[in-house]
Amino acid sequence: MADTTDTGFFSHKRIERNVALLAVLAFITVTIGGLVQLVPLFFMQNTIEKVEGIRPYTPLELAGRNIYVREGCYNCHSQMVRPFRDEIERYGHYSLAAESMYDHPFQWGSKRTGPDLARVGGRYSDEWHVQHLADPRAVVPESIMPAYAFLKEKLLRDEDIAAHLKANARLGVPYADAHVDNALADLRAQADPDADTSGLLERYGEKVNVRDFDGDPRRLTEMDALVAYLQVLGTMVDFQSYVPEDNRR
Ligand code: HEC
Repeated sequence: MADTTDTGFFSHKRIERNVALLAVLAFITVTIGGLVQLVPLFFMQNTIEKVEGIRPYTPLELAGRNIYVREGCYNCHSQMVRPFRDEIERYGHYSLAAESMYDHPFQWGSKRTGPDLARVGGRYSDEWHVQHLADPRAVVPESIMPAYAFLKEKLLRDEDIAAHLKANARLGVPYADAHVDNALADLRAQADPDADTSGLLERYGEKVNVRDFDGDPRRLTEMDALVAYLQVLGTMVDFQSYVPEDNRR
């Protein structure tokens, strides 16, 4: 029996048989749906909860992060503890958005050939990291992680670090002129226990790890930078005192 009600301009029959009309109407529908999701975000005060303790990376940590990205560590490691019980028991408190707000590009990832590294900071000693990166099988016999022994030999190319801070500042990381102007001095001071670190600590906080990271105080290597970066991951927020914004009164 013919459907006599399906005869209007926007009748189902007409739309399904006219590709151009279907495309136009589908586009309009998707656009409205997209706007409903996106527009409110532009009017919210902040989409990322501010959390105490979060600071931009020090120049040495940023240099280490660049090496992490260059070597493609993210191909096997994520940096986001998901809010599931098994993850929290294994890695610690679930990741907060604020913890990666200064990461450009972010390292959340979905590939975990190796463990998540979002909270690896402070879990192992520097010596462990140096040994593990140089020869993973020396400390974890069943490991399939590649060796990165060359990082111990390669001197860190640090002359252009100020430009890296500037680029991050452009993307919204709050590096002021003082951070950029002192970038190279701050980078070298962090890996040198004998250096004057007052400026570094004033700019980045008292909690910054200052020491020789690679076990060779005579040289500043890529290993120093990478280990400094690994050791700060997930350690900026004090979860003993952290209360989520929704629960604050
Ligand atoms: C081919 C995959 C792969 C790549 C690439 C890789 N890893 Fe791993 N990584 C692993 C695996 C598997 C483990 C677990 C076994 C072990 O501890 O060696 C691991 C473990 C680790 C651990 C110890 C984590 C923990 O909680 O015990 C650290 C730290 C680490 N990797 C850092 C790095 C860094 C830094 C890079 C880049 C320079 C890197 N990995 C590149 C596979 C990889």
